[in-house]
Amino acid sequence: MGSINASVDLRRDGEVAVVTTDNPPVNALKHEVRAGLVEALRQAREDGAVKAVVIGCAGRTFFAGADITEFGQPPRPPSLHDVIAAVEGMPKPVVAALHGTALGGGFEVALACHFRIAVPGARVGLPEVKLGLLPGAGGTQRLPRLVGPEKALRMIVTGEPIGAAEAQVLGVVDDIAEGDLTSAGVTFARRVVAEGRPLSLVRERDEKLSAEGFADAAETLTQRLRGQDAPAACVEAVRNAIVLPFEEGLRRESELFRRLVAGDQSKARRHVFFAEREAARIGDMPETTKPRPIGRGAVIGAGTMGGGIAMCFANAGIPVSVVDTRRDLLQRGLDRIAANYRTTVSRGGLAADEMERRMARIAGGTELDAVAQADVVVEAVFEEMDVKKQVFGELDRLAKKDALLATNTSTLDVDEIARATGRPRDVLGMHFFSPANVMRLLEIVRGQETSFDALATAVALGRRLGKVPVTVGVCYGFVGNRMLARRSAETERLLLEGALPQRIDAAVVAFGFPMGPCAMMDLAGLDVGWRIRQGRGERAVIEDALCEAGHYGQKTGKGYFRYDAGSRTPLPDPEVEKLILESSSRLGINRRPIAEEEIVERMILPMINEGARLLEEGIASRPGDIDVIWVYGYGWPVWRGGPMYYADRLGLARVRDKLTDYAGRSGDPALRPAPLIARLAAEGRGFGS
Ligand code: 3HC
Repeated sequence: MGSINASVDLRRDGEVAVVTTDNPPVNALKHEVRAGLVEALRQAREDGAVKAVVIGCAGRTFFAGADITEFGQPPRPPSLHDVIAAVEGMPKPVVAALHGTALGGGFEVALACHFRIAVPGARVGLPEVKLGLLPGAGGTQRLPRLVGPEKALRMIVTGEPIGAAEAQVLGVVDDIAEGDLTSAGVTFARRVVAEGRPLSLVRERDEKLSAEGFADAAETLTQRLRGQDAPAACVEAVRNAIVLPFEEGLRRESELFRRLVAGDQSKARRHVFFAEREAARIGDMPETTKPRPIGRGAVIGAGTMGGGIAMCFANAGIPVSVVDTRRDLLQRGLDRIAANYRTTVSRGGLAADEMERRMARIAGGTELDAVAQADVVVEAVFEEMDVKKQVFGELDRLAKKDALLATNTSTLDVDEIARATGRPRDVLGMHFFSPANVMRLLEIVRGQETSFDALATAVALGRRLGKVPVTVGVCYGFVGNRMLARRSAETERLLLEGALPQRIDAAVVAFGFPMGPCAMMDLAGLDVGWRIRQGRGERAVIEDALCEAGHYGQKTGKGYFRYDAGSRTPLPDPEVEKLILESSSRLGINRRPIAEEEIVERMILPMINEGARLLEEGIASRPGDIDVIWVYGYGWPVWRGGPMYYADRLGLARVRDKLTDYAGRSGDPALRPAPLIARLAAEGRGFGS
């Protein structure tokens, strides 16, 4: 009894042995934890005075899973299977005491215990699919036995956890613990002993193992996950739970896990998992920097963007004022917010009373003085420098001392905006992506004078709003849109050289994006870029011609594609085809068929090239930051790891050679390989090195 090793502790409370793991921050089941658990269980088993065992964790959560940093390294026994065998081999009742997030291998350990109790706020789930994996420690065989294959499949393929209350209804947890969890666990264990309750193991149960509804659920759940290996493996494994004996199902699960964990898709997803967390760090920020407290927000501008941003605050429980100096626009904005919430309620995504609570957090006003109470002000007015500067001048006068002053500009110079105030250290960009209440990316634009604590505040706020914050430097378009501009330029060229919108989009969708560049432009509105280009004296042959012909995208029912009334399905448009062919012939271009492979390369390599320049200029701090931006802001297929990660997989020498070739053919100097690519390729290295 006592300390087993640095992570695991065993003590006795009367006849109950309490095994507690403390491996901050999330009690991942690293080697030392597994070894400690096996040893603690051995001691508890051999101790005649011990009649029952409680397994729990210190800190913020029960085991949140296997230790992902150990994947890809040589296995070190005892394995998670050995831990589970030690639990299941225990001739005395074992109770798992759950709090926080019992995920992946952590939940699988709990599933092997005889009983499970949880605090009301606990969540349990098998999120392995989000790492390109399937549960590999028996989860695909035990969960279907506990909740039925259909429900288990839903949890495993979506990776979404469930709360304690639902877990109790489903029979996953036996009791909800009020008060201190460990005491509740001990009390529960004593009761089991006193009542002589039978020690049933999940693996021995089969009363719920029915195939009913399974095939349909498998079909609907995986329909939109084409190209991904893990969901299909999850389906196969859960089906095995129905048709194969337990041990055989377990053996197949291990095989599938080994194959996935060594595969490219899981490696890519693990890269994104760590890059996402790394992106929240700001390299030169002193460790002592503390974010400022945020109790109230204000959003200036009640347009689509402003409304979406206000919803983010309300959803996160932060009261927010929406200010628009024009009463009609304010009302329209508030109506739009209410309509958005109503849609979510009608689709079952939100309870009606929760909608009321969220709406109650949003106060509308036409006077800018409403910002005086706010700890953070996000400006989302018209994208014009003079307008923004005027707003920031006013904010400087009205906002309270130490308030964070953020602009949601997507193109303008944040430093110039900051200079419109007497407190540029409090000013930065918070670039939300449309629709702001849905898209998870948040580019935090660091100005020359932005202070560390303002930055730390923006990052912390971003996470509170459920966003993935990535800090970037000031330049036109920042990271995401500057790279996107390269893709748009290449789309124009492809259209002129011989491809049609439907062909380009199909190639990009086949690569794994949810939509192609043309459908995306139609959704965003072609007129936005057109106006910006007019202001900058730039031209895009096809896009401008489309705008001149009134093709603004979905909002006018026609853009690169045409849309039937009330529909969002892009349909090929003969009028657009004609316009494209005429543009080619006017420019004397002989159209040719373009292979899908070439389309994909030309959609992706110019972006990678621009990403390299952003790294050289220090606008992006890490290649992983760029990957995170593209995954969370632009639908880059996460199982391909992001553009910079993908470039490393292709090999930078190949990237360099292809770019050199395309630069020569197009005569566009922007396509010449960035010096960083040339240097890394010559050294045989990648961005990740
Ligand atoms: N292994 C190793 N490190 C992990 C980890 C894990 N399973 N889960 C989280 N971490 C690390 C993070 O990298 C981060 O490290 P950092 O501070 O150095 O950046 C730190 O723990 C804190 O993580 P978060 O910032 O994500 O903390 P949150 O409080 O926001 O979220 C969480 C906590 C919900 C547990 C979230 O971290 C999470 O979802 N983790 C992954 C859970 C998971 O996927 N589990 C399954 C693993 S695979 C498995 O179990 C295979 C098995 O079936 C065999």
